Amino acid sequence: MDSFEWNKIAGAILGTVIFIFVVRLIGEAVYEVPEPAKPGYVVEGVVEDAAAGKAAPTEEVVPDFGTVLAKADVAAGKAVSARCEQCHDLNKGGVNKIGPAMWGVIGRARATEAGFSYSSAMMASHNPWTFAQLYKYIKAPAIMVPGTKMSFAGIRSADERINLIAYLRTQSDAPVAIPAPQPVAAAAPETAAAAAPKDGAAPAAGAVPVAAGAKDAPAAAAPAKAAAPAAAPATAPKAAAPAK
Ligand code: HEC
Repeated sequence: MDSFEWNKIAGAILGTVIFIFVVRLIGEAVYEVPEPAKPGYVVEGVVEDAAAGKAAPTEEVVPDFGTVLAKADVAAGKAVSARCEQCHDLNKGGVNKIGPAMWGVIGRARATEAGFSYSSAMMASHNPWTFAQLYKYIKAPAIMVPGTKMSFAGIRSADERINLIAYLRTQSDAPVAIPAPQPVAAAAPETAAAAAPKDGAAPAAGAVPVAAGAKDAPAAAAPAKAAAPAAAPATAPKAAAPAK
């Protein structure tokens, strides 16, 4: 074979490669699948964010802690806290483990336990831990504090979280006072959340005394029942209206 012959062979191979390449490019362009405007199926537990066209998780309504903590099961909460203890020391004078020492954590400024190296995500705020914030954080740590190094999936059950918070509250030299139950008309979620941070500073007149357990506070328990229906979604719009 002379060199002319070789050139023809090389040309044929190169031509084939280019041909395959072009066919693939065209194929991709023709068969590219556009995003459907509407999803073909609906995932339960997520609501459609109409503006962004994305699915957003449903925002949980924070309970009225004056109502739920007064009747919480502290002993059951202590049992739940076993799940935290592999990483947290809950006792007085406790040490930092994988997570920071937790004595008095409710009412304590966030990310301020001496000697513990927090993530920058946790350090982004030093607001004190309120009942409401802890309630959200324990449900899904990585959602409330994106980037937290607390690798804990979270506790879905609202009752378990409430009992746990009731127990953690007692693990303190000066437990944050349980707020007075919200009166029916003011039981909207915004007011419940807004009232929470003030607990530590100035307990409301009707607040349960610091050391009182649920059964020592019949006065708080009674109005709690009366306030309960306000948490039902049906009455929520009514409660919101006078707030304007
Ligand atoms: C796998 C280990 C682990 C488990 C289990 C765990 N935590 Fe944590 N926790 C951490 C770490 C690590 C941090 C520090 C997070 C950061 O800096 O982002 C933390 C931080 C916290 C903080 C913030 C403390 C502060 O000083 O601001 C709270 C509150 C908390 N955890 C509560 C809990 C509760 C309640 C439970 C049990 C339901 C729990 N954690 C279970 C590892 C854990």
